[in-house]
Amino acid sequence: MARHLITSALPYINGIKHLGNMVGSMLPADVYSRYLRQRGHDVLYICATDEHGTPAELAAKEAGLSVAEFCAQAHDAQKAVYDGFELSFDYFGRSSSRQNVEITQHFARKLAENGFIEERAVRQVYSPVDGRFLPDRYVEGTCPHCGHDKARGDQCENCTRVLDPTDLIDPRSAISGSTEIEVRETKHLFLLQSTLQPEVEAWIDAVGGEWPHLSSAIARKWLTEGLHDRAITRDLDWGVPVPADTWPELAAEGKVFYVWFDAPIEYIGATKEWADAAADGERRDWKSWWYEADDTVRYTQFMGKDNVPFHTVMFPATELGVREPWKKVDVVKGFNWLTYYGGKFSTSQKRGVFTGPALEILPADYWRYFLIANAPESDDSSFTWEHFTATVNKDLADTLGNFVNRVLSFSRKRFGDAVPPGGTPGAAEERLGVEVCHLLAEYEDQLEALQFRKAASALRALWSAGNAYLEEKAPWLEVRTDADAAALTLRTALNLIHVYGVVSEPFIPTASAVMRGAFSLEGDTATWVTASRAELLDGVPAGTAFTVPAVLFTKVTEEDLESYRARFGGAEDH
Ligand code: MF3
Ligand code: ZN
Repeated sequence: MARHLITSALPYINGIKHLGNMVGSMLPADVYSRYLRQRGHDVLYICATDEHGTPAELAAKEAGLSVAEFCAQAHDAQKAVYDGFELSFDYFGRSSSRQNVEITQHFARKLAENGFIEERAVRQVYSPVDGRFLPDRYVEGTCPHCGHDKARGDQCENCTRVLDPTDLIDPRSAISGSTEIEVRETKHLFLLQSTLQPEVEAWIDAVGGEWPHLSSAIARKWLTEGLHDRAITRDLDWGVPVPADTWPELAAEGKVFYVWFDAPIEYIGATKEWADAAADGERRDWKSWWYEADDTVRYTQFMGKDNVPFHTVMFPATELGVREPWKKVDVVKGFNWLTYYGGKFSTSQKRGVFTGPALEILPADYWRYFLIANAPESDDSSFTWEHFTATVNKDLADTLGNFVNRVLSFSRKRFGDAVPPGGTPGAAEERLGVEVCHLLAEYEDQLEALQFRKAASALRALWSAGNAYLEEKAPWLEVRTDADAAALTLRTALNLIHVYGVVSEPFIPTASAVMRGAFSLEGDTATWVTASRAELLDGVPAGTAFTVPAVLFTKVTEEDLESYRARFGGAEDH
């Protein structure tokens, strides 16, 4: 048994996330966590909302709430959606927690003690009307290169050139629109990443060989371009305060840490939140996962590709510079983008499918299966309603759901409410057993290799094997001439349903519980079945009572499809 620490990139606090966010971080982490738990490992799956930064401040202002109140509400709203998706977090924390403030400040003090933080004076845009310094992207103006009049201070959207706010012609505040813009000198803390680069490189040489291609390629690219020293403080009201004991002057000016400095530290912070939330008498040792963790802890992170540099290079640099034995990541699993009909999901243009509305249409299992089966792993992948409909109808309704209902109802009709005895397994059962063992081993290998699409294919093949067996044996014909032969076929198929109920759990937890729950079995029925187990198809003995559940998956009809296209926009809108 190993101890698995699993985290998914912390979703920004503002806004309900779209399906692309879900498939690129939380959902695969959940599938992996569930799988490892079923196999008997000790799993700690941690996530949290990423709450600091200017977007949260502005969203709060727009909602007419204090930032603290806005974040509290938004956290609960996201949590409710993730519960709906059946994400099995051990803890879903908040980066604004007291625990994260403490650990972030501790990290900063240590980095300073070790000579990796330096105070530098910088010139920054200040807006007297807004009463604040403006982050680069909140300065707007005319692009000096192409004349686009809504260029942002960090980049021109029109010609994609990278800009400095002082490059803009007729600059104005994107917050108030004020053109009364000044450049003021102010002090900030810089993390000396350039000094830490050789250590980061050595660390990646040691561990990065095991990472999937996408993450190691991105990490290498960043190292080749060279790590730059980075400002880790901002002039904002909302954030982790710079500790006054170490930087009295900056603290007095109200400086806070930059959101990307404290956000990854919240993986640790949230683990402490988890421990602090323990019930009386329950022991939750957060440090054993993070501090001087032994070799039995294996840490896997999940995220979209834009987040990979921060996790493979920058956060490790921070951890290394602290000079304390904090656990570093073992495997970084990155994902490409999920597109909507080939275009970007867009919150502002309301294009695409968001996680909240998705659950209003169909239960979590439908989304979980489709998204993982089409995860943007080796490349971007595209969501279309047509593809979604076809997948649900074919794989979930026809292949799995139909098999389950057909076998259970037919067996009950012919042999009553218990698994029928009789018959001796023959060549067909032998072949099925070999095939199921083979596919199960393939499925396990792919899950362990974090190859989610391939795992989904193996799972689908397992479901198909049941259908092929049933067609071959045709118990509806057998029953006319040889009741024992039909009983054997049905008993084998009923056993397969139970196997499906176990191994499909990471993908479709609700339907899996229904499949397992159809049988009156004692104890924890979700424990993994192993491919080597000879009695794989004999786990539910003859005589076990069962019930016939309602249809597992309903098909998406043409009318449904029409209504989804109308509500969310389809191909013609692009
Ligand atoms: N909030 C960031 C995003 O959605 C991810 C932060 S991951 C963390 O892109 F590690 F920094 F927390
Ligand atoms: Zn431009």
